[in-house]
Amino acid sequence: MQAKLAVTRKIFPDMLELLRRHFDVVDNQADTVLAPEALVERLRDRQGAITQLVDRIDEALLAQCPELKAICNVAVGYNNIDVAACTRRGVMVTNTPGVLDDTTADLAFTLITATARRITEAEAWLRAGHWKTWAFDLFLGQEINHATLGIVGMGRIGQAVAKRALGFDMKICYHNRKRLAPELEAAVQGTYLPLDELLRESDFVLLQLPYNAETHHLIGARELALMKSSAILINVARGGVVDDKALIDALKAGRITGAGLDVFENEPNFNRDFLELKNVVLVPHIGSATLATRRKMAMTATQNMIAALTTGAPPNRVNKEVSTTK
Ligand code: GLV
Repeated sequence: MQAKLAVTRKIFPDMLELLRRHFDVVDNQADTVLAPEALVERLRDRQGAITQLVDRIDEALLAQCPELKAICNVAVGYNNIDVAACTRRGVMVTNTPGVLDDTTADLAFTLITATARRITEAEAWLRAGHWKTWAFDLFLGQEINHATLGIVGMGRIGQAVAKRALGFDMKICYHNRKRLAPELEAAVQGTYLPLDELLRESDFVLLQLPYNAETHHLIGARELALMKSSAILINVARGGVVDDKALIDALKAGRITGAGLDVFENEPNFNRDFLELKNVVLVPHIGSATLATRRKMAMTATQNMIAALTTGAPPNRVNKEVSTTK
């Protein structure tokens, strides 16, 4: 008998077709957001679920979906999934590492330049018809070239941003759980610094690290106070790494100069006070959002699922302890 699979949100039709060759699939091409109870209903009799980062997979859901063997998230981050609970219940969890590094690094660098050069603010002003004459001091921004970029979280995406920054003659420092191997550190010409020192030294602070209990509010009022008043904060990691209320206070008070944000606490219901600020560039969690990359992510999740429910050994298993199908 074919294993039963749920694809919780919209996915590319050709990949759905591929999945249907292996599994009995329920899809959600209408892309409705499934509230927790609806998600349980959808997954109750399923062995596999291809999930997205809006789907919360927690103990309560797992307890009501005892058939589940594999959760394949279409994202590199998996903070929407209680991995420990999945491991306890023998449910494999996979993610999509590698395929989105360059695309997310491109967006991170876009936010650096857009925030430093006040691109969205200047465009809104132009569109509103305010441009009457060229002026010497019109929309003066921050220098990017030769500035210091501090990267917090120097995994594959952080390193990809560093490589872009070197093209702008930026000086790179970084903070990471583990110092990089010498050859990787040399490739990004990065200096390892304790977090506080990085915050004090950097003109741009880029957050590119996973969100978990240890990184919750890693950047709050104390850390923002350590930054230069001319500095810019960029968050392409996850909402929750930054205390958004403290960030808004710091931006309002001019304690830092600006912020470029792809992610927010409680998104999409982010703190609306951000909208009152001119010195921010705000985008709706689109770090990996190009067609080519989203196809690669969906294909990676598809292949993970096929392997998970056939061989029991998907390539991108997060909880390696769960090795075979239960
Ligand atoms: C996107 O945020 C991802 O984790 O892939």
